[in-house]
Amino acid sequence: MKKIAITGSMGMLGQTLVKNLKGFELIPLTIENCDITQGCEVEKAFVQFRPDVVIHCAAMTAVDLCESKQFDAWKINAFGTINVARAANLIGAKLISISTDYVFDGALDRPYHEYDQPNGGINIYANSKWAAEQAVRSHCPNHLIARVSWLYGSHGPSFVHTMLRLADGTRTCLKVVNDQVGNPTSTKAVSDALQQILMHPELVGTVHLTCEGEASWYDFARKIFEIKKINQKVVPCTSDEYPTPAKRPKNSRLDKLVLRESGIHQMPHWEDALREFLLR
Ligand SMILES: NC(=O)c1ccc[n+]([C@@H]2O[C@H](COP(=O)([O-])OP(=O)(O)OC[C@H]3O[C@@H](n4cnc5c(N)ncnc54)[C@H](OP(=O)(O)O)[C@@H]3O)[C@@H](O)[C@H]2O)c1
Repeated sequence: MKKIAITGSMGMLGQTLVKNLKGFELIPLTIENCDITQGCEVEKAFVQFRPDVVIHCAAMTAVDLCESKQFDAWKINAFGTINVARAANLIGAKLISISTDYVFDGALDRPYHEYDQPNGGINIYANSKWAAEQAVRSHCPNHLIARVSWLYGSHGPSFVHTMLRLADGTRTCLKVVNDQVGNPTSTKAVSDALQQILMHPELVGTVHLTCEGEASWYDFARKIFEIKKINQKVVPCTSDEYPTPAKRPKNSRLDKLVLRESGIHQMPHWEDALREFLLR
């Protein structure tokens, strides 16, 4: 049976993968047994477990915190990924490295496909994740970089969790940003796609794994309350009205060109994935 190691297995995506991937021997790695910032530790774990594939989910994902803790962002996201890529290459494992829509600056007027050239993004988290992508390409030729976006899953934290917490009846209305557009994506949808992709070792390079359809955060919030039948007034606002330490791209939409052309799998529509998640 193929062995799959998962870094960051206690994170939101990691936990969904551990629960849902079937037909493989899974090796969940955590910061305790595989701190990715420690090259020797990563190498030791990979040499010990000898996975055929490494799914690299570990990262510093708090986008605003990355602005004030820049050193940690670079250390974990960029240098940590160099360690993972080197160790995967050393043992001959394929590396599936999870990346982000934020590697694009969001200025394009259509969804980004896999052959569009990212410029590294407009915040520190994005810059460090772009450096991580470059590290994977340089240090582990047998790789697949899988970009995901606007993630939510059982274990949170996520936008879905925040909206449900805020709609506790104490707020007459919620202001939600309406000038950033992207693909809300469940960790379950990513896991289902990876389940299929793992059967296709020939798929290498870069692939976008976000749900189909598009929404602003405002659309996303309204859909959450509609599905949950929660009577919460939501009003649209601009990013300027809701300033955050990290700038966010206006256009986060990802086109699934590679997935479509390969015929391996089709991502669900974001509204269907959200319904499945909220009514589970
Ligand atoms: N969440 C999103 O909306 C989103 C969007 C686009 C892309 N992504 C990407 O998707 C991947 C998974 O994200 P996620 O939402 O599941 O993130 P998450 O919930 O924050 O999980 C990341 C995991 O990495 C672990 N970690 C942090 N530093 C580590 C280290 N030095 N060594 C080993 N593990 C370490 C964290 O452990 P601790 O909790 O103990 O720190 C956590 O368990 C990441 O690559 C992220 O960049 C996420």
